[in-house]
Amino acid sequence: RTAQIGVTGLATMGSNLARNLARRGYPVAVHNRTQAKTRELLDQHGDEGVFVEAATLAELVAVLERPRKIIVMVKAGAGTDAVLDELAGLLEPGDILLDGGNAHFADTRRREAAMREKGLHFVGTGISGGEEGALLGPSIMPGGSAEAYEQVGPILESIAAVVDGEPCCVRLGPDGAGHFVKMVHNGIEYADMQFIAETYDLLRRAAGREPAEIAEVFRTWNDGDLESYLIEITAEVLAHVDPATGKPFVDVVADRAEQKGTGRWTVREGLELGEPVAGIAEAVFARALSGHVEQRAAAANLPGPSASPKLGDDFVDDLREALYGAKLAAYAQGFSMITEAGREYGWDIDLGATARIWRGGCIIRARFLNRITDAYRADPDLVNLLVDEYFTEQIGRAQEAWRRVVATAAAAGVPVPGLASGLAYYDSLRAERLPAALVQGLRDYFGAHTYQRIDRPGGFHTRWGQGRDEVEA
Ligand code: 6PG
Repeated sequence: RTAQIGVTGLATMGSNLARNLARRGYPVAVHNRTQAKTRELLDQHGDEGVFVEAATLAELVAVLERPRKIIVMVKAGAGTDAVLDELAGLLEPGDILLDGGNAHFADTRRREAAMREKGLHFVGTGISGGEEGALLGPSIMPGGSAEAYEQVGPILESIAAVVDGEPCCVRLGPDGAGHFVKMVHNGIEYADMQFIAETYDLLRRAAGREPAEIAEVFRTWNDGDLESYLIEITAEVLAHVDPATGKPFVDVVADRAEQKGTGRWTVREGLELGEPVAGIAEAVFARALSGHVEQRAAAANLPGPSASPKLGDDFVDDLREALYGAKLAAYAQGFSMITEAGREYGWDIDLGATARIWRGGCIIRARFLNRITDAYRADPDLVNLLVDEYFTEQIGRAQEAWRRVVATAAAAGVPVPGLASGLAYYDSLRAERLPAALVQGLRDYFGAHTYQRIDRPGGFHTRWGQGRDEVEA
């Protein structure tokens, strides 16, 4: 028996992808290090399509049509290298390995180069959508050679989510481009969730609403510009009541947010590239702070505001605008980072296509991504998302309410690092003059680090200690 494609690594994501492939009519060879998992998949879902069981990687390779196509779905990290090395020893030139895990894009670049040396194709592929997405249609972000995409692209496109008749899968660029875009997707996912959490916190603590009422607010918001999967599931989670205690579920969950690391990667890479991904950074920091149990306990009695601010009648509407504004700022930061990475790593990532494949299947799927696609279609060289006509109008409309929300939050003593930082980004971008000029002056004063002038080219230094005359550097 032969198969058209293989999957190794049958944890939830791997087995659901294999099932998705089988259901679409691809005979799929399946392998897992402990074979019991493979058996389990076949026992439970063997009737969903044609599965070919492989006991070893050698068997997996033996049953595949050529060029062989193998999706590796093992836990990202050292495990991936071990599996890839073993497979590389078994494959033949022209065969294609696809890594569908959350690999770091730098590892993907390294692996792609190593595989290329051996005549093998390596397609580093971001896959978003969790368990359900993998089974029913994820958003797929492949990177790798165009030649490899010709072989695997049609298969990937046929198992991806579909929005307006278009599959949520496109080749994003060579080597690490796909995993880079998936990383930024996750960074934005962190930011989106942080803004939602802050908005919830204000509704709860500043406006005194109960979780069930707040669920209703989010449910209404899901009908407008904010319509998205995360807003939809926020309503679900907030409406949920803990069966054991009868309390709102959100009140019985420990308030320490964990992370597997992709948000942190985005911020680290943002720092390397000099990209101000502040919204994502605040989201990562907020999770980190939430975990500092000891410090939080010690600080619990630090003084807060003596009076609560009076909320305007339109506070809920203001919150919606603030959430939307912060979201636009975070997407602008994420897309700018992808542009900059493209320059750095020699990719030419189509930002419009990126937004298009995020419309369905993935965690950050949202209606307004259509608008991002339109913006980059109208101007592929758009320097910042917010200067697109539509988004300028949108964020311009939101900004007054956003300011009121940040001011109210400060007065109420409710932390909104994400919403506040987004607003600072917006105001920094639009500022005619930034106080960076003063920073330059200080650097020149204490370290003769030099500065440039607005009125003539060149580098300059003021002799601060000796008469303060200016010299050319
Ligand atoms: C996705 C998700 C997925 C995973 C996150 C969770 O796109 O399907 O992003 O990749 O659920 O990585 O990340 P944290 O554990 O870091 O929050």
